[in-house]
Amino acid sequence: MTDRRRFLRAVGLPALAASAGVPFQPSLLAARALDLAPTLRSHPGSPADVARDEDFWGEVAQAFTVDRTLVNLNNGGVSPAPSFVQEAMKRHLDFSNELPAYTMWQIQEPRREGVRRRMAREWGVDAEEIAFTRNASESLQICQFGIDLEPGDEVLTTTQDYPRMINTFRQRERREGIVLRQIRIPTPAEDVDEVVRLFEEAITPRTRVILACHMINLTGQILPIREIVAMARRHNVPVIVDGAHALAHFDFTLAELDCDYYSTSLHKWLFAPIGTGLLYVRRDKIEGLWPLMAAAETQDADIRKFEEVGTHPAANTLAVAEALTFHQALQAARKDARLVYLRNYWAERLLQNPRVTLNTSLRPGFACGIANVHVEGVATNDLQGHLWRTHKIYTTPINHEEFNGLRISPSVYTTLEELDRFVEAVEEVLEKGLSPG
Ligand SMILES: Cc1ncc(COP(=O)(O)O)c(C=O)c1O
Repeated sequence: MTDRRRFLRAVGLPALAASAGVPFQPSLLAARALDLAPTLRSHPGSPADVARDEDFWGEVAQAFTVDRTLVNLNNGGVSPAPSFVQEAMKRHLDFSNELPAYTMWQIQEPRREGVRRRMAREWGVDAEEIAFTRNASESLQICQFGIDLEPGDEVLTTTQDYPRMINTFRQRERREGIVLRQIRIPTPAEDVDEVVRLFEEAITPRTRVILACHMINLTGQILPIREIVAMARRHNVPVIVDGAHALAHFDFTLAELDCDYYSTSLHKWLFAPIGTGLLYVRRDKIEGLWPLMAAAETQDADIRKFEEVGTHPAANTLAVAEALTFHQALQAARKDARLVYLRNYWAERLLQNPRVTLNTSLRPGFACGIANVHVEGVATNDLQGHLWRTHKIYTTPINHEEFNGLRISPSVYTTLEELDRFVEAVEEVLEKGLSPG
């Protein structure tokens, strides 16, 4: 069997289309994406070698239909999906429209189980511990609202956690009288023991749960989740992990974190369709966690109770399968290495100027593809506006009370030429300042 035929079989497109009763007609774009597979698989180099191979990443970039008149350096917010992921989603959506009550509920919903198994297998947990949601916010709020708390009970997080998640606990403060405590952690934080100690020192006899980011969205900082979870377990405090930016970004498994609750978006670094998220709940914690929307008592110990959200498209979740296939073809370690390579490519050049500092560590294990850069003497919002208006380079301004800077998040399709243009545009501002207006 040829590589191409083997890959087509692995992706399962002809079989899927045939069983759905539609002829299989891959579009040109989908065919191009499928052609990538042999090239991706056969590369002999280590992840570090592959990270530097522009031909390889040039092939990878063909899977995306991004607009090259613009430079997208905000892939962290939400990512474009490869064309064959988009195609799959549209195909599922069209099929579901033939007779939705039958096609969607009888044919498509059961297929979600295959995706569940594949996702669980990829990240080293049991399929019965994986629920699909619409985004990380939903996964996190299931955990944040699903744990019973009494007035005066404390929840602990940092000042750098995601605003919606902080607001979720603030609403519980107003509604139920719980108490939110927030600790400050250093920026960047490069001392694992110190971070764990800061969390531990804030635990009191009333602490009922900790919310901690695996990767902080503001800076790309990776926190030592495994160590935080182990410490908190000694105090009998569960940890809700906010992995919105982490899963499929850097290389790890859920198994190795050994946590109770893990929430992530799939439309960020897995490149799955917009509106896809995942919730992991350790098997023995499922029964004790309330779903956001009510489910039958018989479902108490079933992970699927978290998916009881009423009528919603099946297409998005099914197309997670194609995104996972793409992720597997790239290989987690190679993707991780490439994102670090791209970050270092722009950051090390800009850091040659003494007015440039990073709010992100460049040390291995403390960040990956995202970094936050501060340019002394230039207001962050003005710099972001200038880069967009003048150079059509899209970045994210971060204005936090503890630091500010531009968040830069390239992706696997970003070219070195695009990063050169970004660096040159910032260097020009450093030299000449921002032109008025
Ligand atoms: C740290 C963090 N948590 C949660 C979220 C929420 O993700 P979503 O909007 O996909 O629900 C985000 C989104 O950027 C995030 O950065």
